Amino acid sequence: MSRIHVYGPARLSGELSIQGSKNAVLPMMAAALLHKGITVLTNVPTIQDVDCMVSILRYIGCRCNRRGSTLEIDATFLRSVKIPDCYVSQMRSSVILLGALLGRAGEGDSSYPGGCLIGARPIDIHLEVLRNLGAEILEDGDRISAKAACGGKLCGAQFQLRYPSVGATEQALLASVLADGITVVQGAAREPEICQLCQCLNRMGAIIRGVGTDTLTIKGVEKLHDSRFDVRGDRIVAGTYLAAVMAASGSILLKDITPSDLTVPLDLMEQAGACIIRDEVKEQIAISMESHPVGLQFETEPYPGFPTDLQSPFMAFLAAGEGESLIREQVFEGRFATAEELKRMGGVIRINGREAYVTGHYPLKNAKVKARVLRGGAALVVAALAAEGETVIEDCRHIERGYEDICRDLRVLNADVRWG
Ligand code: EPZ
Repeated sequence: MSRIHVYGPARLSGELSIQGSKNAVLPMMAAALLHKGITVLTNVPTIQDVDCMVSILRYIGCRCNRRGSTLEIDATFLRSVKIPDCYVSQMRSSVILLGALLGRAGEGDSSYPGGCLIGARPIDIHLEVLRNLGAEILEDGDRISAKAACGGKLCGAQFQLRYPSVGATEQALLASVLADGITVVQGAAREPEICQLCQCLNRMGAIIRGVGTDTLTIKGVEKLHDSRFDVRGDRIVAGTYLAAVMAASGSILLKDITPSDLTVPLDLMEQAGACIIRDEVKEQIAISMESHPVGLQFETEPYPGFPTDLQSPFMAFLAAGEGESLIREQVFEGRFATAEELKRMGGVIRINGREAYVTGHYPLKNAKVKARVLRGGAALVVAALAAEGETVIEDCRHIERGYEDICRDLRVLNADVRWG
């Protein structure tokens, strides 16, 4: 199992270009299935979840060629509509391929994605979306088979999501682009990754209106065409490295990142004492932090609220700060698991249901800790930068699912961090 060694405390400095967004590129790769031709994606991150999605697309019959950060997907011929269990268990977000397969071939088959350490993560809203669009869903044990009822094509419909689920919104977009008629999705998610998926689909020839709002209108088209799309910087990876500066202090410049994708986290970091310059035109964020962060109170929400994926990295720097903080996790019911590991590093954290009370103090203690989930693992690296001595983080394979190379990136920012 992969380990990371962090030697703290460390002041960060330097400039770093941010990798392409994991949560934007995965649905775009699924979208490529909708076109019997070539879709080229650029600025694709080199991460395990992308490798997993490439394996699934190849299993289904696509030809995928990777040259550096450019990924060419040729989905002219498909040979299967079934997503193998091994891939679904490895990456639960592969369930959005059901919508793409229904849109392309009128049928799709997948196993039920399990929950994970951050919550049960049911897919009831996904299945409701597909039924609304005229799919017959057969649930047999942990298998899901979906078939377009009316002659192999889905039918446009108007419906409201009971919750602005990111995945269910992606499911609706992928299933409705080639459906007959018009689809109106009310209560849709508005995350930047959803906007990018809509822009990518429109670039492919789809007709989607209301991008960036909670009401998406999709006019079904007969077919799509070859296209090329550039993936924007990963706001959660950028937010993780900004949290690292909050914990360790210093001054860095992040490039290839859209500041308005991180408005609420940036506002909170300023409230905690950081000096931040946001350049929307140059797509850069400069941050400097010369004191320990003061306590904050915030809750996680769907976009444009505070993103749940940055909850653990924020908890990490607040644990190494000064003052009292209150964090409410309102998106996933089980996303405080990392608190136990932070407590092993001397973090003073009390969990009460969906609320975490953090009493900051600096520095934290070095320890041997375990990364149990993707963002929680990255949060331990953030905390270790504010701990004295060597911290060893085990089981870092989780981190590799979403970060190209967190050690490489932090070394560019002058941290003493290495794989071990
Ligand atoms: C996406 O997950 C992201 N994953 C998550 O990032 C992110 O935390 C989440 O959106 C919220 O922003 C990808 O994009 C690959 P949801 P998703 O559907 O789509 C409940 C990371 O670290 N729900 O918006 O699964 C669900 O249980 C990952 O990169 C239902 O009840 O998130 C949760 O409580 C972690 N029924 C809430 O909605 C459903 O059918 C939000 O889930 C679907 C969701």
